[in-house]
Amino acid sequence: MTNKISLVSLLLASALSLSAQRTLTVNVKPRAEINPDMYGVFFEDINFGADGGLYAELVKNRSFEFDYPLMGWQPFGTLSVETENPAFDRNPHYVRMVDGGKYKQTGLQNDGFTNGFSVKKDAEYRLVFHARREGNAPVKLKFEIITSANNIMTKQEVTVSSIDWEKHTVILKAGKSDAHARLRMTLISRGTVDVDHISLFPIDTWKGRENGLRKDLVQALYDLRPGVFRFPGGCIVEGTSLETRYQWKHTVGAVENRPYNDNRWNYTFRHRLYPDYYQSYGLGFYEYFLLCEDLGAEPLPVLNCGIGCQYQTGDCVPLDELQPYIQDAIDLVEFANGDTTTTWGRLRAEMGHPAPFNLKYLAIGNEQWDSVFVEREELFVKALRRHCPEILFVGSSGPKSDGKEFDYLWPEMKRLGVDLVDEHYYKSPEWFYTNAARYDTYDRKGPKVYAGEYASHHKSRENNFEAALSEAAFLTGVERNADVVRLATYAPLFAHVDAWQWRPDLIWFDNTRVLLTANYYVQQLYSHHKGTHTLSLTEAGKNVSGENGLYASAVYDAEAARVIVKVANTLPTAQTITLQFEWLKRKQSLAGEAQVIYMQADDKSVSNTFENQSAIVPQQTTASVTDNTCAFTLAPQSFQVIAIPIVRK
Ligand code: AHR
Repeated sequence: MTNKISLVSLLLASALSLSAQRTLTVNVKPRAEINPDMYGVFFEDINFGADGGLYAELVKNRSFEFDYPLMGWQPFGTLSVETENPAFDRNPHYVRMVDGGKYKQTGLQNDGFTNGFSVKKDAEYRLVFHARREGNAPVKLKFEIITSANNIMTKQEVTVSSIDWEKHTVILKAGKSDAHARLRMTLISRGTVDVDHISLFPIDTWKGRENGLRKDLVQALYDLRPGVFRFPGGCIVEGTSLETRYQWKHTVGAVENRPYNDNRWNYTFRHRLYPDYYQSYGLGFYEYFLLCEDLGAEPLPVLNCGIGCQYQTGDCVPLDELQPYIQDAIDLVEFANGDTTTTWGRLRAEMGHPAPFNLKYLAIGNEQWDSVFVEREELFVKALRRHCPEILFVGSSGPKSDGKEFDYLWPEMKRLGVDLVDEHYYKSPEWFYTNAARYDTYDRKGPKVYAGEYASHHKSRENNFEAALSEAAFLTGVERNADVVRLATYAPLFAHVDAWQWRPDLIWFDNTRVLLTANYYVQQLYSHHKGTHTLSLTEAGKNVSGENGLYASAVYDAEAARVIVKVANTLPTAQTITLQFEWLKRKQSLAGEAQVIYMQADDKSVSNTFENQSAIVPQQTTASVTDNTCAFTLAPQSFQVIAIPIVRK
């Protein structure tokens, strides 16, 4: 008996010019298991992604620890920066304010991270500061939220009575909405007062957490359903030099006492200089693990391997002084997984999470190369295997997708026996098309691949559909080779429209809004339709990987009992395909209603903008499946995900 499946596409306008019909054969016998963590996110504090972005703090330089301690603040009156007898030993600067007499005022105004900060009418904001009075009498401070037109929208007065440092909390309610508000603090009594760590958060953060995250940005991550979450970078892991490298131990414990660090993206690109970009570490490793838990994503921390950025200083810790770096890695595993009797497990519990975070991946080194890297990596591998054998070790193939360093590092990573090798490629759309078959010939027995940083860079460097379509096409090759490629994360993740250093990026935002790119939707389509097992999809016995502009792959989804086919037609003309399904079990057939999600644009240069957020978004339709041969017309320049239910006959 022949089962005939006819899948009638509702996608297309009738006026399409059709090319010759092509037959794609899908063998429904499950092959390799797909890693449930497969598609994820890469997070770095670049483009004001953490401070000024995901981290919901509204005050810039809240601890007066930037190189110029009053950067981000407009001081007025009689005010100085002091360090004697500080409130926080690792963030010792604070301001001393002396009253200005009858007529003059003393105070400070904070301009937020990017031209003020956003407040919403009637929303509440938690102001926290630490203060002590100098002298005999209590002093009074006034806190105001100021509109962009310099009007006072809300105010509160607070008395500081203690001569010792004391924490104060005040709730301010916004009188109106403003995307560019400011915070002002004024001394309104006689006397002298010391103030430190002046912080303002919306009450309405993600899950209402006090040291919380911006809700709309987390929601965008949540909607991606990421399987893995890389953090904290990126080059930021390396620092410009070892001195400015990311140190996870500086990012945990009391938020007021996490020492500030340079943000290397402050000065890395001279043409995109942001002299006021630092790291507060308010979004540190505890908040990161918690976020992963919320998102259902596996954390994948990346730690420094004992080398500063090799594009810049390239300073190396001598091998016999590497032990503290190795210990940092072991301690991070303890912080994540150790029981509460261990030093770092106890800190995790004190911070609010006695249960372990079940860390399973750890990467050492970001974009390093040469023997200096391998020598250090080897010591990390040995120590981690000994102390934390449960951890999957992620090594690196350097900053490029091929070439001398790549060719040197891959065999070295094999020799070290790492579990996964991180590959990075920021390349043109053409490269992504040409490389869709990249993993077809990879060694099946060696370490697995983690496509840790990648993005299609159109010459305009925009997040346009051309870039997104080439990523969609490339990912058919990743999916087909999911036995080798176990993880993939697009990079970078976030960018503030008024404060970016690098583009393209997956998610753009401003002080009030979020903008999802076409690239975001491609990631989402893969993540939501990753399936559980790869399937063979061929045309005349060969993989469909670019012949006449067509790229395709298929997976089986055991949980939802369906087959999912992904097809990109990169030509400016329509193409008709016939999908043929083989190897169905005796009592099974592919039938009923197929869910079809597609992205298409006649103009490949189209991008989503704040003015037109849905210029290029997935569209949905359904198609009926009535026999095992389905004719399907692919629109010009389109990517589609076709989910076909497997039913019992
Ligand atoms: O994603 C931006 C940067 O690109 C990362 O920090 C770095 O690892 C890569 O060069």
